[in-house]
Amino acid sequence: MKIMEIEGGRDLKGTIRISGAKNATVALIPAAILTDEEVTICNIPEITDTEALCDILKDLNVNVKRASESIIINPKEMKNIEITEEHSRRLRASYYFMGALLGKYKKAIMYFPGGCSIGARPIDLHLKGFEALGAKVRSEGNKYIVEAEDLTGANIYLDIASVGATINIMLAAVKAKGKTVIDNAAKEPEIVNIATFLNNMGAKITGAGTSTIQIIGVDYLGSCFHEVIPDRIEAGTYIIVGALCGNPLKIDNLIPEHLDALLSKLEEAGVPLEVGADYVLVQKQDDYKPVNIKTAVYPGFPTDLQQPFTVLQTQSSGKSKTTETIWENRFMHVPYLNALGADITVKNQTATIIGPRKLVGQDVVATDLRAGAAMVAAGLKAEGKTTITNIEHILRGYEQIIEKLTDVGAKITIKEI
Ligand code: UD1
Repeated sequence: MKIMEIEGGRDLKGTIRISGAKNATVALIPAAILTDEEVTICNIPEITDTEALCDILKDLNVNVKRASESIIINPKEMKNIEITEEHSRRLRASYYFMGALLGKYKKAIMYFPGGCSIGARPIDLHLKGFEALGAKVRSEGNKYIVEAEDLTGANIYLDIASVGATINIMLAAVKAKGKTVIDNAAKEPEIVNIATFLNNMGAKITGAGTSTIQIIGVDYLGSCFHEVIPDRIEAGTYIIVGALCGNPLKIDNLIPEHLDALLSKLEEAGVPLEVGADYVLVQKQDDYKPVNIKTAVYPGFPTDLQQPFTVLQTQSSGKSKTTETIWENRFMHVPYLNALGADITVKNQTATIIGPRKLVGQDVVATDLRAGAAMVAAGLKAEGKTTITNIEHILRGYEQIIEKLTDVGAKITIKEI
C-alpha cells in the first residue's frame, strides 16, 4: 500500500508548471479511435487515468506509443471487442469508449464505468443521447450493449448540462448521417478541446463552449496533431496551496480565463494575486475574509475545486459557507479536515466553516480524487506530520505531485508500506 507523508507548516516558494488537463485527456484518448490513421496528442499528463485508457486501447489492438509528453495512437489494426469489466471500472471516463466505438463501428460493449464515489453518477443522459441517434441499448447486469443499424443526426436536449453526456454524444454523432444538435450542452473548456481535436480530424462541429452544439456528420476522419489544454483543476488546486503556503508561489502554464470563478473568490477573500497572461503569482496572508461558494456548471465555481477551497476557508476569520449542487456525496473530506483541527459542519448540501483554525498533522484518508487534493493542501498548511492513505485517488489526477511540490520547498514523500 502506498501512503503520502507531509511535514507541513513550511513556506512554498518557486514555480509549479501545470500539466495537460486530465478531463480533456481522458476523452481525447478514446476519441482518437474514430480515425483509422495515426494521431499525435501532446501535453498528455502522466497520471494513472492515462495508463488505464492506454490499457483499453491495447486490448482493442490499437497501437499506442508514448514519447515524453506525447502519445501517438494508431488504430489501423483495431478490433472492436468487449471492454472488460475490470478495465471499464478502473475509471469513470472509460465510458467515452461507448460513444467512440458506437460512432466508429455502430456497436460498443462495455461495463458500467468506475470512478470516484462522489454521487450516484448515472449514465442515463448518455444512453438517451445514443438512442436519439438511433442506437438500441441493452443491459445485462452491469454490461451494456449499445448497437445501431444506422446513426442519424437528431435534436437532443440534455436535462442536465452533463460534461460526460455532451462529449459522449459528440463522439457518437460525429460520423452519423445528417445534423445533430445538442441543447443545454455543458460548456466546460475541455469540451471545446475535444471538439477542436475532432474538427482537426475532419469533423464539422460548431458551438462547443456554448449551450448549443451543432454537429454535421462526416464519413471520414483523418490524422491530426493536437495539444491538450492546461489542467484548470490542477492549476486551481496549486493556486489554493499558494494562498495557504506561497511565499510567493507562481503557478505557470495555465489559462487564467478558465479559472475566473476561483480567482474572483480568492480576491474576495483578500488573497494577493498577480494574474499574468499564462500564470498566477500568489502570496499567502495571515488573515483572510470568509467567502461563500456555490458550485455550478462552467463558468460557475467548479465542484472539483470545492474540496481544496474548504481548506482555505478554515483559515478565514469568521463563517464561510460552501454549497455543493453537482454531486450529492462531496463532503467526505470534512471529517478528516475536522480531525486536523478545522471546525466544519455539514447540513444537507451545505458546509459551514468557522475559522480561523490552526491545523495540526494527523492520519487522514483521500476518500476521492479532489478530497485527496484537499488533504494535500491541508497537510502542507498543518503543523507536523500528516499521513494520507488511499492516495491512488490522488495519483489518478495529479501528475508528478511529489516532484512539483518538493521543487518549491515542500517536504512530501510517497512510501510503500
Ligand atoms: C465531469 C468531470 C468531473 C466533474 C464533473 C462536473 C470528467 C472525467 N469528470 O464528470 O471531474 O466533477 O464533470 O463538473 O470530465 N448526470 C446524470 N445523468 C447522466 C450524466 C450525469 O444525472 O447521464 C448528473 C450527475 O449525476 C451529476 C451531474 O449530472 O449530478 C453532472 O455530471 P457530469 O457533468 O456528467 O459529470 P461527469 O462528466 O461524470
